Amino acid sequence: MNDTELSRSLASRGYAVREGFVDEAHIAALAAEARELYREGRFRRAGIGASRKLARDIRGDEIWWIDIPTAEQARYLARLAELASEVNRALLLGLISVECHLARYAAGLGYDRHRDRQQGDDARVLSCTLYLNDDWQPEDGGQLRLHPPGEPALDVLPRAGTMACFLSDELEHEVLPARRARWSLTSWLRRRSHDPLDARGIPLVFPEADSSRRRPRR
Ligand code: OGA
Ligand code: MN
Repeated sequence: MNDTELSRSLASRGYAVREGFVDEAHIAALAAEARELYREGRFRRAGIGASRKLARDIRGDEIWWIDIPTAEQARYLARLAELASEVNRALLLGLISVECHLARYAAGLGYDRHRDRQQGDDARVLSCTLYLNDDWQPEDGGQLRLHPPGEPALDVLPRAGTMACFLSDELEHEVLPARRARWSLTSWLRRRSHDPLDARGIPLVFPEADSSRRRPRR
């Protein structure tokens, strides 16, 4: 599946599962950085809802929000901007920015069935999770379980290189507990909020339009 097929799948089914969205070396670098940030004690227990209430029985991950991206993370955000540009062109979603966090679920912990758009936030449109786990086997568990309306549930293994994308306000999903630590990089692509004071997210920097089609300056 390429980016065009991904956006077609989003349009027709509300989700897409994409292999090879970024190359293996890049994933390895992102995964190594995530482990390093975790060792430095930078991750925090994730909360739920706009108030970020702690509820470990609902949601067990520890997260680190990307405010100032590292070089590898910036490269990933640039890749997401390419995807957003294609999705905007094909589906007119008006994506302009991205919120992003690294997450680690300790063995045995998951995230109950939920949707990603929080009350009072109308701007999250597309959820995209890139998995960072080498050698992940079905018996390790930790599947992302998607619940598309009117379709059977679909399980996605959190294998390095797999990216799951879905419409944030429509698709219910859950994270099943795993038997080993589970690492991921989740991004929410955002449109302009109706709240004029809402400046959440990092602006997407879209790739240059094809310069050969521009008229030469005189
Ligand atoms: C989330 C979430 C899915 C996953 O962070 O909201 O649902 O597979 N994550 O990590
Ligand atoms: Mn979610």
